[in-house]
Formats: sequence, C-alpha cells, structure tokens
Amino acid sequence: MKFFIDTANLAQIKEAQELGVLDGVTTNPSLMAKEGITGRNNILKHYVDICNIVDGDVSAEVISTDFKGMIKEGEELAELHEQIVVKVPMIKDGVKAIKYFADKGIRTNCTLVFSCGQALLAAKAGAAYVSPFIGRLDDISTDGLNLISEIRHIYDNYEFETQILAASVRHTMHVIDCAKIGADVMTGPLSAIEGLLKHPLTDSGLAKFLEDYKKGN
Ligand code: E4P
Repeated sequence: MKFFIDTANLAQIKEAQELGVLDGVTTNPSLMAKEGITGRNNILKHYVDICNIVDGDVSAEVISTDFKGMIKEGEELAELHEQIVVKVPMIKDGVKAIKYFADKGIRTNCTLVFSCGQALLAAKAGAAYVSPFIGRLDDISTDGLNLISEIRHIYDNYEFETQILAASVRHTMHVIDCAKIGADVMTGPLSAIEGLLKHPLTDSGLAKFLEDYKKGN
C-alpha cells in the first residue's frame, strides 16, 4: 500500500519524506488555507515546492465547479509539474472533466467520494485515483472502512485500473485496516504514519538490550 501524507505543511512533508516511506501528497483548499497559502500565484508556487520535496504524486485540487473552468484550471495545474495529479470533485461536471483529462493523458484524483456508485462513475470516467473519505463517514456513524471493502470488490470484479486512495484517514488503525482490505493508497496525517512505529515491547526490549550491553562493557 502506498503512503500519501494529507497536508500542505512543508515541514511535515519533509519529515515524512525523510522517513523514507512516503509515496505522495494530497492537498485540498482547506489544507492550503490552514497553512496561510492564499492567492493563485502563491498556491501554484506551493504545489511546485511540494513536488520538489516528495518523490511521487501530488494532488492539486481545482476550485471551479463547471466543466470549462475545471478544464482550464486542471490543464494549468498539470503543466506545473509532472508529479501533479488534478483533483476533481465528484459532481456531474467533474465526471465529464475526469473523462476529458483521461483522454488527454492528464491524471486525476476524484475527491469527495462517499458511495460505491460514485466510485464506479469515477472509474468508468478514467480517474487515476478515487478518494473515498473514510473519516468523514465514520463521523456520521457510517462505516467508512466498509465503503473501501465494497469499492475494492467492485473494482476487482471488472479489473478497473483506478487506484483506491483511502482518504480522510484519521489514525493508525485506519491505516492498518485499509492495508488489510487492500486499498492501493492511504492518505492521512503524519501522526497516523508515525503511530505505526509504536509498541511498548519494542521500547522495553530496546531499553533492556542497552542496559545489558552497558553491564558487559
Ligand atoms: C483527501 O484527499 C482529503 O484531503 C482529506 O483526506 C480530507 O480529510 P479530512 O476529512 O480529515 O479533512
């Protein structure tokens, strides 16, 4: 399973990259705003800065909600850097835009996916990635992980090439459960990745090894 980090924070992206397990980055307009990145030129520059840190795909989201606007924005984003994947919302014009981009060889990430039907449409239109938001489903008492399982089943039935990018991952157990189900990618905060490191027996075992080494030297 690929690991993407879901942030526009350059320091956190660098930290994840240095760990050696990072495969890409996802951003969205809220994450850019959180880092104080505003204005079209600053936003475009920030995407390039992210591409220069990470070896892998970087999702950059369009703001337009009409077909023509999404095409114009998406083409501008795709020209920024070869690692850019254009993030398009799961709406009617978004599906049309995904198909247009697929025909042009521009890779897309279909975002804001909350149902199997939406995931099926994204794959049919030719999205490179589909992003089901598992944490936001959990937030409204709906099983986000179950959606990942169902999409996995549907995509395997028809050998769709669209990669399942489990998004809105909130914690380490989401990462492990997504890996068990067979999501192709997960995107979450640095804390969800670093949580995988932790085990009390590792800590106590290491402390004992170091203590015994000191005794013998
Ligand atoms: C996906 O690409 C989104 O940026 C993201 O995962 C949303 O997560 P949230 O629900 O924690 O905001």
